[in-house]
Amino acid sequence: MATITVDGIEIEIRTGERLNAIEAAARAGVEIPHYCWHPGLSVVGSCRMCLVEIGTRDPSGKVSMGPKLMPACNTLVRDGTVIVTQSEKVQHARALVEEGLLLRHPVDCPICDKAGECRLQDYYFEYGQAEGRRADIRPFTSRRRDLGDVTFFTDRCILCTRCVRFTREISGTSELMVRDRGAHEEIDIVEGFPLNNKLSGNVVDLCPVGALGDKDFLYKQRVWFMRRHQGVCTGCATGCSIWVEENQDRVHRIKPRENPEVNRWWICNDGRYGYPHVHDPDRLVGAVHRDAGRTVPLDFTGLAARLRDGLQASGGTLGAVLSPFLTVEEAYLLATAIRQLDSGAVLAIGPVPVVGEDERFPGGFTIAAEKCPNRLGVEKVLAHFTGGVTSFDQFVAKVGEGALTGAWVSGGYRDPWIEERTAEKFARLKTLVVQDLFPSPLSKRATFELGGAAFPERDGSYVNRQHRLQSVGWAIRPPAGTRTEGSILWELCGREGLYNASVVLQELARKIPAFGAAVGDFSDIGIDLRLNQLA
Ligand code: FES
Repeated sequence: MATITVDGIEIEIRTGERLNAIEAAARAGVEIPHYCWHPGLSVVGSCRMCLVEIGTRDPSGKVSMGPKLMPACNTLVRDGTVIVTQSEKVQHARALVEEGLLLRHPVDCPICDKAGECRLQDYYFEYGQAEGRRADIRPFTSRRRDLGDVTFFTDRCILCTRCVRFTREISGTSELMVRDRGAHEEIDIVEGFPLNNKLSGNVVDLCPVGALGDKDFLYKQRVWFMRRHQGVCTGCATGCSIWVEENQDRVHRIKPRENPEVNRWWICNDGRYGYPHVHDPDRLVGAVHRDAGRTVPLDFTGLAARLRDGLQASGGTLGAVLSPFLTVEEAYLLATAIRQLDSGAVLAIGPVPVVGEDERFPGGFTIAAEKCPNRLGVEKVLAHFTGGVTSFDQFVAKVGEGALTGAWVSGGYRDPWIEERTAEKFARLKTLVVQDLFPSPLSKRATFELGGAAFPERDGSYVNRQHRLQSVGWAIRPPAGTRTEGSILWELCGREGLYNASVVLQELARKIPAFGAAVGDFSDIGIDLRLNQLA
């Protein structure tokens, strides 16, 4: 173990562990302000905001400090390193850096999207001088340029170059560069080659000030009006950890949530901008019963009993299609409910959408070709109930042969997923329950048509392509009149009270060995993310 001292606090790090002074100080609970450094990018040490005093302690305990301030981002600590972050010298240096950065910075915070989460604001408040020394009036607005996927507010930029390094090191597309030198330096693109890649939205998150604006979010919301919730992206099998940011049940922004095991600090644009379907006016809402050409709306009271009676009335073999968009808890409840009604019920997985091949970027980020979040989780549930996995095509064949009389089909797909020709085969069923996000050729034929929940409206867990389980809670409520899959299935299984995903997951962990490793204290499932490598 190596011992490091930060402002008099001693911490120990593993021998051989490579930490810079910012990371070491963070372990001691001390924040060193920084702009240009980011743990996912190379170190350039250009902003000088992280200057601190660095010294060493010899074995006799004598401390000798270096003569100059050092950039903490570019200083690796080792046994005996002493870091001082609160001296007068350091405070003075920080105040001067802030003053320098603000010399040409426009005073347009009232209209800047970054206001409220801007490091320039925060650090100036924390470390800046009480009064500026620039006598003349600074510009009230910034020049603005279209760089492609993002809008660039030229004068707000502090030239930290995080965005430039991202396009070189992570996306590998190198669209951004620094043009000119000295006071004329600016971030730019080569004309005709705009910033346009599948990870480009990350440069907006990386920008510590408001220089790079997200076109999708621009001027939509003040950040202090939004609440953020831990979520999992359901756009592909990578299952990136995300923040879902909403105001009054309306999602306004999706941002990556740091997760070293899955997506590190990044998400792709498909996941970032893939939420408008959540508020699509064409979504299926509520529940209806079709009988002899009449469509009757159903209310929540007694809904589960009506569904149960409807399925039992079909009088033969039942079946269920477990969508790969269901959480493992929902899949387990659906399989349990159908097997309670018919112990020989046929269980199958829904269609698994695959587009092209996995895309791997130089920085290690992968966009999976499989465009659903939970194929592996649903397959594990199916294997528990049936000893194997029946595909959707096999299920459709059984329906076509007349082997089933009633079925429950779960959807949840963002895009059209079933064709008229396939849906026609389900016309043979006496009872068909379809719960889905959007109307489809199948939902039109359903005896019971139920609106389903979109991803930010669900409680539960997903197993990504690395067999990693992630549990999250709901961020927004579903549209009025719509009940989530979990809550309907919970009732269908005859359980009392409100749907509780953590209870189902613990039950799963007891019954299915693969989920055994996932047992933990899930009492705070709606708040905490738990990561567990499944067996
Ligand atoms: Fe160290 Fe910018 S963070 S110089």
